[in-house]
Amino acid sequence: MRTAVYPGSFDPVTYGHLDVIARASVMFDRLIIAVLNNSAKNPLFSADERVKMIKEVTKDFPNVEVDSFDGLLVDYVRRQNASVIVRGLRAVTDFEYELQMAQMNRKIAPEVDTIFLTTSLEYAYLSSSIVKEVARYDRPLGEFVPPFVEEKVRLKLK
Ligand code: PNS
Repeated sequence: MRTAVYPGSFDPVTYGHLDVIARASVMFDRLIIAVLNNSAKNPLFSADERVKMIKEVTKDFPNVEVDSFDGLLVDYVRRQNASVIVRGLRAVTDFEYELQMAQMNRKIAPEVDTIFLTTSLEYAYLSSSIVKEVARYDRPLGEFVPPFVEEKVRLKLK
């Protein structure tokens, strides 16, 4: 059984994330979406809220699970008996940080590999931060996040 972990902040989950989830879910027997539970990042949503939102919008993927983690990602990956970390790459600007993280993770856990899925072009500009920015100015979010997530963002920013 091949298990992969797709880690991130997902604050909130966007169509860009869902695109990566849909594509990665057919590559592995089990895909765990792992939400970073890190108060230092000062997220808009608690880890619990983010997990619930992702569960709702991924309920049609039978092999996708949603969980939260703290501490080192590779320790979590090992605890889950996973061998692969999935990350999305939007643009060259993501590359340096992603490469450094993948190399450090591999140094600590050589048996764990990171694979990158290039984000579909229509979502290349999308990020959770930019969605929150647009939401703060009361603009519609329908092109960026599912309706369930849009509603939660609106309620949170009220
Ligand atoms: O969505 P993000 O914020 O780009 O995701 C970053 C994430 C969660 C993948 C990264 O910050 C992470 O793995 N944090 C846990 C601590 C860790 O293991 N860091 C990388 C090795 S130094």
